[in-house]
Amino acid sequence: MSEHAKLTIGENEYELPLTTGTENETAIDIGKLRGQSKIITIDPGFKNTGSCKSAITFLDGEKGILRYRGYPIEQLAEKADFMEVAYLLIYGELPNKEQLTTFHDSITHHTLVHEDMKQFFEAYPRKAHPMGILASMVCSLSTFYPESQDPNRGSSAVDLTIHRLLAKLPTLAAWSYKHSKSHPYVYPQNDLGYCENFLNMMFKMPTEEYEIDPVIVNALDKLLILHADHEQNCSASTVRIVGSSQANLYASISAGVSALWGPLHGGANQAVIEMLEAIKEDGGDYQKWIAKAKDKNDPFRLMGFGHRVYKNFDPRARIIKKAADDVLDKLGINDPVLDLAKNLEEIALKDEYFVARGLYPNVDFYSGIIYRALGIPTEMFTVMFALGRLPGWIAQWKEMVENGEPIGRPRQIYTGANARDYVSIDNR
Ligand code: ACO
Repeated sequence: MSEHAKLTIGENEYELPLTTGTENETAIDIGKLRGQSKIITIDPGFKNTGSCKSAITFLDGEKGILRYRGYPIEQLAEKADFMEVAYLLIYGELPNKEQLTTFHDSITHHTLVHEDMKQFFEAYPRKAHPMGILASMVCSLSTFYPESQDPNRGSSAVDLTIHRLLAKLPTLAAWSYKHSKSHPYVYPQNDLGYCENFLNMMFKMPTEEYEIDPVIVNALDKLLILHADHEQNCSASTVRIVGSSQANLYASISAGVSALWGPLHGGANQAVIEMLEAIKEDGGDYQKWIAKAKDKNDPFRLMGFGHRVYKNFDPRARIIKKAADDVLDKLGINDPVLDLAKNLEEIALKDEYFVARGLYPNVDFYSGIIYRALGIPTEMFTVMFALGRLPGWIAQWKEMVENGEPIGRPRQIYTGANARDYVSIDNR
């Protein structure tokens, strides 16, 4: 292929360089176009715009491929654990035994949050959404570690911030839940694994024993792996763009948590269960809801369906669907909401409207079902997604810093009023 694209605008012709990735995806580099022509490109929602070069995650939406650092998601979900995957995403290679032990030990020894942070929790209303608490708490961590605000610190100081974030997020997440229930906070326990520790902080009560079920631990670990990164999605792009101003890592991740919260992104897992429950309450007539989703005058969308990049299937949804069946089977749960989900999926997959638009169940269609089976309350679903996505956000931020990327600052096409003179209030 030619190494340049040619663009003709009126009388003028511009040569634009092409850039090709390791999987042969090609982009037209328009970086110098404005300097040459005063013309910009426009692409609301960045539907066809690459914002960076990245070596972290590869996905092919047409073929349903997802790989972290080259490793297929199917292999990682089956064979790796979340700590290994976090290390892989952040540092680029799978850890050997010694590297994994050191990494895990460091994370285990930073799980406590400063006692003063408990007062922040106390100040929130009991009904506060845990994502609101999480975003604020993550940003608040920066106030306890002011040295983290210097973006030019050495790599060991950055590593410490990374380990603190990975260590403290489960504590903050579990405590936001305990606060909503007015239950006493459970402190992290260093002899437990990452997922076990989180489950213990969520569900242990001082009055009774809490036995951590290995089936639940395995399912949770798999879910965290499946959510760990997804290249330049809304929240990862947010983390990169906030970080590009040299805001500290805590502030950048807090922005990522906020971006994830929306129902068109990570908030979809909560929205799916709420939708299924509403359909059940309404008598279970899923055909009626499918018709609503197709009606252009009705804002309702089938939550958990459709994806910006997957137009054939979401490989994570395939893995998770099977995991959902296994978990429900092993835990002996018969959930009518799952039956409803299956019916809805079956109908939508055959419906011309969904087929023509390439709308398939995404990862969030099934993740909510598993979280429900694991006893995680609906409002915590997006928090679970954030726990999984954290290594991805960190890896994206780290890569952006290491690549020396410039501050993110898009342009626009102005459509407002032309210059006009101020009119005093008496003459308006
Ligand atoms: N239900 C009904 N119609 C839909 C749905 C849906 N869930 N999703 C897309 N469509 C329709 C749109 O109305 C549009 O139709 P049109 O071409 O006739 O106008 C067409 O499909 C394309 O939709 P867009 O909104 O342009 O696609 P986009 O790539 O911008 O949006 C998104 C992707 C946000 C995921 C969308 O499919 C959606 O809202 N899905 C429901 C929310 C959801 O599940 N989000 C989770 C995403 S996965 C994640 O973040 C982990």
